[in-house]
Amino acid sequence: MEHNTGIPEERIIILDFGSQYTQLIARKIRELKVYAEILPYHTPIEDIKKEQPSALILSGGPSSIFEDSAPLVDKRLFNMGVPVLGICYGLYLVADAFKGKIAGSASGEYGRVLVNIKEKSGLFKGFKKKEQVWMSHGDRVTSIPPGFVVTASSENVEIAALENSEKKVYGVQFHPEVYHTTSGTKFFKNFVFNICKLKPAWNMESFIESSVETIKREVGDGTVLLGLSGGVDSSVTAALLQKAIGERLYCVFVNNGVLRKDEEIRVVERFKKHMNLNLIYVDASRRFLDKLKNVEDPEKKRRIIGREFVSVFMEEAKKIGSFDFLAQGTLYSDVIESVSVKGPSDTIKSHHNRVPEILKLIKSGKVIEPLKELFKDEVRELGVKLGMAPELVNRHPFPGPGLAIRIVGEVTPERVKVLQLADDILIQEIRDAGLYNELWQIFAVFLPVKSVGVMGDKRTYENVIAIRGVNSVDAMTADWAYLPEGLLRKISNRIINEVKGINRVVYDISSKPPSTIEWE
Ligand code: XMP
Repeated sequence: MEHNTGIPEERIIILDFGSQYTQLIARKIRELKVYAEILPYHTPIEDIKKEQPSALILSGGPSSIFEDSAPLVDKRLFNMGVPVLGICYGLYLVADAFKGKIAGSASGEYGRVLVNIKEKSGLFKGFKKKEQVWMSHGDRVTSIPPGFVVTASSENVEIAALENSEKKVYGVQFHPEVYHTTSGTKFFKNFVFNICKLKPAWNMESFIESSVETIKREVGDGTVLLGLSGGVDSSVTAALLQKAIGERLYCVFVNNGVLRKDEEIRVVERFKKHMNLNLIYVDASRRFLDKLKNVEDPEKKRRIIGREFVSVFMEEAKKIGSFDFLAQGTLYSDVIESVSVKGPSDTIKSHHNRVPEILKLIKSGKVIEPLKELFKDEVRELGVKLGMAPELVNRHPFPGPGLAIRIVGEVTPERVKVLQLADDILIQEIRDAGLYNELWQIFAVFLPVKSVGVMGDKRTYENVIAIRGVNSVDAMTADWAYLPEGLLRKISNRIINEVKGINRVVYDISSKPPSTIEWE
C-alpha cells in the first residue's frame, strides 16, 4: 500500500472482517494519537509485513466461523513478533489459531452486558471488578487454547476475554470500541501504551509537516488541478496543497446556479483575496439553469448537473493548459467504503467523483488525495491548523446538485432566488441561536405548492418553505431535530415577511429511515 501523505513510523493495522464498528476501532486509537489504518482481511501477509505494523487488530464481523465461506486469517500473522488483539469475530480467529474450541449457540448476547474482570493486568489494568461492555455475538469460545488464561467472563459466556501475555496475543468477546463499553478508552490505552509500548506521536502538526514533504516530492515542479466546491474537503485539500506547491496549484470553482446565497462571492473572496490561491471562477449558472428547464425528476436533475459540471470543468482546464496531476478531497471513509470485505471480485467501487474524462487531461494520469488517511473530524482539525476559520471547516454538508434537489419539481431562476433568501435567513437565525454546530444539517426546501394566506388586508396565494433540520452521526440514519418554539416563530416570521413569494412555513418532522434527509 502506498501512502501519499506523511504517516508516522509506528502504526497499528486493523484487519477488517466486515464489522460495522471497524472504523470506530481506528478512531479510538487515533484519539490516543497513535496512527491506525484499516486493511481488508484478505490483504496478503507480505503486504502487511511491508507496512511494518507495531501491532495487529482483528476486527469483528458478521460471519459465523462455522460458515463455509467464513473469512479466515493467515496464521503466520501470529508469528510476526507484534502484539495481536482479536475483537469478537477476531477472538474466534485467535482461539482457532491456537487450538481452542468454539461453538455456535442458540442464544447470543446482544447489547449491554456486565463482565467480571478476572485478571487485572494486561488489557484490564485499572478496571473495576465488574464492567459494562457491549456484546453482539452468537458463537462463543468454549475451551481455552493451551498457554492462554481467561481474563474476563460474563453471566452467559465463561470465556469473554483471554490472553497469552508471553506471546502478546489477546482476544475479547465484547466491543471495546463501542461507546457503551464504559472503559473502552482505558482498554485501548492499556493495549496501545502498556502492551504495544507505542508513543502518542500522531498529531496534525506532524501530519502537515510530513504530508507537505510528500506532496513536494511527488509533484516536483509539476502543476496540480483541483475542483474547488467551497465545501470542507476540497477547501482543506486546497489549503494543504497550496502550502506545499504554492501557485502551481490551480483551482477551478464552478458556479452552477444552484449554490447558497452569495456563496460565489464568499468563495472568491476567501480563496482569491485572503488565501491568494490561483482560483479560476466560472459563472456557468445560466448554462446549468437552461439545461434544468422543465426537468422535474430528481435523478435527472442530478445527472444533468453532474454532466454539465464535467463539461464546464474540462473547458476551463483546457483554457489554462495542461496539468501534471489532479487533486481530490477524498476522505478515509470514502476509501474504506470502496474496499469490500467480500473479496477481490467486488473490491472496487468507483470513487463518486472520479471521472475518466477529466483524468485524460492529466499528463501523469495520477490523482493526489492528501486527505485520504483522515476522518472528517481530523480534516476539520487540519483545516483549523492550516489557518481556516472554524465557521468554514464546521459547515454542514451541502449536496453536489445543490439547491436543485431542495426545490421540489422544476428549478427556475425565480425559485432559486426565493430559496436562497429563505435558507439564508434560516441559517443566520440558527447561528445566532448558537445551534448551528449542534445540528448535522439544517436547510430550507422550496415546495411548489400554493396555499392561501392573508397579509395586511390582502389575500395571498403563494408557495411554501419547509424547514428540514436533523441530528445524525453519519447521514445513514437521522432524527428530526427539535428547535425551541421561540426560534421557530422568529424564523417563520422573518421568512414570510422578508421573502416575496412565500406565505407559509412548515417544519419537517420525519426521521430517516423511512424518509431521507433531502427531499429529493
Ligand atoms: P439523503 O437525502 O440520502 O442524504 O438522506 C444523505 C446525505 O447525503 C447528502 N446528499 C447528497 N450529496 N450529492 C451529494 O453530494 C447528492 O446527490 C446528494 N443527495 C443527498 C445529503 O445532503 C445528506 O448529507
